Amino acid sequence: MGKVYGAIDERLSKFIEQQVVFFVATAPLSSDGHVNVSPRGLPGTFAVLDSHTFAWLDVTGSGSETIAHLRENGRITVMFCAFDGRPNIVRLHGTGRVVTRYDPDFESLAQRFDDKPGARAVIVVDVHRVSDSCGWGVPLMSFEGHRDLLGPYFERKGTDGSADYRITKNRTSIDGLAAYDFDPAEPADA
Ligand SMILES: Cc1cc2nc3c(=O)[nH]c(=O)nc-3n(C[C@H](O)[C@H](O)[C@H](O)COP(=O)(O)O)c2cc1C
Repeated sequence: MGKVYGAIDERLSKFIEQQVVFFVATAPLSSDGHVNVSPRGLPGTFAVLDSHTFAWLDVTGSGSETIAHLRENGRITVMFCAFDGRPNIVRLHGTGRVVTRYDPDFESLAQRFDDKPGARAVIVVDVHRVSDSCGWGVPLMSFEGHRDLLGPYFERKGTDGSADYRITKNRTSIDGLAAYDFDPAEPADA
């Protein structure tokens, strides 16, 4: 059944990098704040960097809860589920940091991933707990394909249009915490 590991070993790393979707959960410190869970997993956007580090290229999206919570307190759990093959669930508990597209470290980190329109940050998770569980309750599903929507949408918006979108939609969390407020300019119509 479930096991706790000292690190992300080669077998776990292979399992993680084979997934087509994973889930990230974060929460604000406030006891009545909104806990968040979001899907992630665009192809070529996530990787195990070393036995205690997981990272993903975070693309502009309709919300910015994950970034807000990481900036406030860093706590994060990343979950991968086997929807085909051998049953398995892997959880990485850790502390995440946000390297935005404006940070000096961004280019070297982003090089590890496919170039995605609208990329806003790399999220780097220092993993302090690695565990798996049976996964017997996770349904078996067949993967049909990715929806080719998010990339083309931000491709059409371009760099400035993506920044304008973030200024409008990504600056604060649902609870009003500072989220993605790194874009330098206000949009013309803000
Ligand atoms: C496979 C997959 C990959 C996704 N990748 C991202 C992503 O990189 N960035 C993002 O903001 N939203 C992504 N989304 C959508 C988000 O879950 C959601 O719309 C939102 O923007 C989440 O951001 P937040 O967790 O910061 O609130 C993805 C969704 C799916 C299903």
